Amino acid sequence: MARKKIIAGNWKMNMTPSQAVALVNTLKPLVVNEDVDVVFCVPAIDIIPAMEAAKGTNIQIGAENMYFEEKGAYTGEISPAMLTDVGVKYVIIGHSERREYFAETDATVNKKVLKAFEHGITPIICCGETLTQREQGITIDFVRQQIKIAFLGVTAQQAATAVIAYEPIWAIGTGKVATTEQAEEVCKAIRDCICEIYDEATAETIRIQYGGSVSVSSAPELFAQPDIDGGLVGGASLKPDFGAIVNYNK
Ligand code: PGA
Repeated sequence: MARKKIIAGNWKMNMTPSQAVALVNTLKPLVVNEDVDVVFCVPAIDIIPAMEAAKGTNIQIGAENMYFEEKGAYTGEISPAMLTDVGVKYVIIGHSERREYFAETDATVNKKVLKAFEHGITPIICCGETLTQREQGITIDFVRQQIKIAFLGVTAQQAATAVIAYEPIWAIGTGKVATTEQAEEVCKAIRDCICEIYDEATAETIRIQYGGSVSVSSAPELFAQPDIDGGLVGGASLKPDFGAIVNYNK
């Protein structure tokens, strides 16, 4: 069975709640494509107003982060139950910016992934190498390690529902998109890794996105690759461009 594409916007630290409502209203007529699951991952404070604005559309609102404890003395954090209480079904876990600026590690990513599954939230699990690692020729080894740790203790049944976002760090926000061959090579290696950890069926079901300077012009070729099931889109998700990216196949 063909995997349904999933194209997610990652708004990062952009858009106040009122701007979020305006952006959802602008984008909602543009992101209609029944071949694609469309997710807007937005800042926590924007989740509720964005959901209100997206009511009755095909847009699902996701979160950009979540903590791995249930509740308690963790000032500033958002719990899984806070997300599910308002109907959030997707959460980005382990984005490279969280790893770089907020000290997230493969181990904390794993804890968050397990917690998301426990609460029925689909994690969009990010991985990807630095430019130095690519130049050293260790991209695939490095990404395989990130994936193996992220999925420790995750069952095959859970893993099949996960989303992985392969985002080479050197391509994020730089306008320097990976070539189609580079993106497909790593996404295929990730699928092979999932097959090794679990089995063929899980590997064939899990969805793997490419992220890093996805644009209207690069999306069609990237998303046509056999192992690329959509994208995680930063900058271009804040613009009407996102409508054309979601409709890459039209
Ligand atoms: P970008 O961001 O599309 O702006 O490169 C992608 C991401 O960080 O998810």
